[in-house]
Amino acid sequence: MQTDLRGRDLISTQDWSKEEIETLLDVAWDLKRKRALGEPHALLRDKVLAMLFFFTSTRTRISFEAGMAQLGGHAQFIDSSTTQISHGDTAKEIGEIVGRYTDGIAIRQCDWEIGNAYIKSVAAASRVPVLNMQCEIYHPFQILADLMTIQEKFGRDLRGKTINVSWAYASSYQKPISVPQSLVLLMTRFGMNLRLTRPPEYQLMPEIVAQARENSRRHGGSFEILEDFDAGFAGADILYPKSWGSWLTTEDQDESAQIGAKYSDWITDDRRMALANEGAIYMHCLPADRNIEVTDSVIDGPQSVVYDEAENRLHVQKAAMALTMR
Ligand code: CP
Repeated sequence: MQTDLRGRDLISTQDWSKEEIETLLDVAWDLKRKRALGEPHALLRDKVLAMLFFFTSTRTRISFEAGMAQLGGHAQFIDSSTTQISHGDTAKEIGEIVGRYTDGIAIRQCDWEIGNAYIKSVAAASRVPVLNMQCEIYHPFQILADLMTIQEKFGRDLRGKTINVSWAYASSYQKPISVPQSLVLLMTRFGMNLRLTRPPEYQLMPEIVAQARENSRRHGGSFEILEDFDAGFAGADILYPKSWGSWLTTEDQDESAQIGAKYSDWITDDRRMALANEGAIYMHCLPADRNIEVTDSVIDGPQSVVYDEAENRLHVQKAAMALTMR
């Protein structure tokens, strides 16, 4: 167990060793148990977290804010459109100044080719830890909650389990690729067989895929890319079909919508779930486009773990805050 995580940023799970991630999960389970028992755990009394949002959120905002209160501290909701962040304050100034007021800075900035660089620039200037609440490349807290959920369902040793990280159709908007990218990076460090299923226009960043392949080689398991939606379900234990934008093909929303429409039959339904292994689980980070991306019968059905997954956001984030901001 690694105990010296004070002051550490968490921008990508790749920045933390496997042992450090296992420490975070151990603490998350302890905090989950304490909350279930009603045991106080005010580990961050009088501490303040600044939460900078450049993009909307439901789960991330509410879980970070609730988590900070449960740890005895306070979380500030800072909307970029109602502050000077959108017109004047630089990343360096935010890191320097907000770091002097608070004990941690959490940021969601998903703009393509801007978000990750912005978060890293704030971190470089900040004297307090910076936590990535999602950028265009990574969504580390979602994926840590996903790993916690998978381990709750299948046990800590995930070697030999097959996870299908698949694209699915959605009509709402061109979603970031940060969830599938973070999934392929983290799950390959736990010996799982990683299956990435997507149409040719929905590639992930080549450097991320290369890192995932290297993780898989180092930690056992396998890594394969499929382009057939049904084949992705066959024999899998964990199904994670969700939509993402064709960012590496086009940044144009209209062109992306036209490409996506070619694959409007990529919807998770009961027939497809039946192709998976017995006991397989359905996961989604939410929000989902219901009856477009996934049918109600699957997302509300017995194999769905989406609410446990959403709950675990709270516990992993509290663990990260308690370890880095103490
Ligand atoms: N899954 C997730 O990050 O949800 P929000 O966008 O609502 O925060």
